[in-house]
Amino acid sequence: MIEDRLGQRIVSGAAAEEDLRMDANVRPQRLSEYIGQKRVKENIAIAIEAARSRGDALDHVLLYGPPGLGKTTLAQIIANELNVTIKTSAGPLLERKGDLTAILTSLESKEVFFLDEIHRLQPAVEEVLYPAMEDFRVDLIIGQGPGARIHPFPLSRFTLIGATTRAGLITAPLRSRFGIVHRLEFYDPEDLLIIIHRSAKILNIAMDEGGAEEIAKRCRGTPRIANRLLRRARDFAEVRAAGRITRAVAQESLAMLGVDENGLDEVDRNLMLALIEKYGGGPVGVGTLAAALSEEEDAIEEMYEPYLMQIGLIDRTPRGRVATARAYEYFGKELPKRQTRLF
Ligand code: ADE
Repeated sequence: MIEDRLGQRIVSGAAAEEDLRMDANVRPQRLSEYIGQKRVKENIAIAIEAARSRGDALDHVLLYGPPGLGKTTLAQIIANELNVTIKTSAGPLLERKGDLTAILTSLESKEVFFLDEIHRLQPAVEEVLYPAMEDFRVDLIIGQGPGARIHPFPLSRFTLIGATTRAGLITAPLRSRFGIVHRLEFYDPEDLLIIIHRSAKILNIAMDEGGAEEIAKRCRGTPRIANRLLRRARDFAEVRAAGRITRAVAQESLAMLGVDENGLDEVDRNLMLALIEKYGGGPVGVGTLAAALSEEEDAIEEMYEPYLMQIGLIDRTPRGRVATARAYEYFGKELPKRQTRLF
């Protein structure tokens, strides 16, 4: 899986093994502790309260957006707020229809089933979800060949929470079966500061406001990266400074990791420089860029581009990716003549 390889990257939104272990300590458990994503939070709070007062299962929820923004955390919080248990799986783990059927038939009334990377379900497996989501039923096939019979099997009324980094890859029939659909956005600097201070307090890390601000600026709007940079800055503070994350400690430790002022690392720089120098600023197809960098196309679309687009260094056009005027300025390159007309 690309996540495994990219998990090594200090500014990857994908969860590395250490994140999974460490984030458990700082992960909010309740909606009231969950910072940011105001619109999503408000809408989900209302849906939860309505479902609770009706005594019914919550409608199915689809959460999408770049990795590390808190989709799994939110799913766990929804289950906590509903006071129900949660079962968890992921698209690539469900290889056969029977794998999914076994989970669905084990769900209890109002229980939450969290299905991560839902865009990676096999089509045949995905089809099992349709009647399960709509009518709380699975169609068991008993026997083989012409003698095979369909036996409808009733399920408990459960809530499916699907998560994906690639909303565009969700098929229309699957998407239409979710009553509640929300996109998680990159976090505002103010929200990131609150998250970083909260994590530091839980982990007993001494940190100045300046230290928190440096981490907030370099974490690509992503709490998972913020928490990771916080741990690395703490290591540095303990070994090289007096154990306190000051602005200077944060700056020095993150520069040493190759993370620049805006959270860009070597991979981002290589991508942008390839786009500017090798392809004259574009437009260039994502496949071509991927090949030039020996990266996977998926990784570029899922992990690098969303943030590079967010900070205005790259644009997607129908003809391919282009470097913006700001990108030329950022990397100290002269804007070619034809670019002046474009921007
Ligand atoms: N840790 C990671 N994401 C968080 C969030 N949205 N709110 C509070 N703490 C977090």
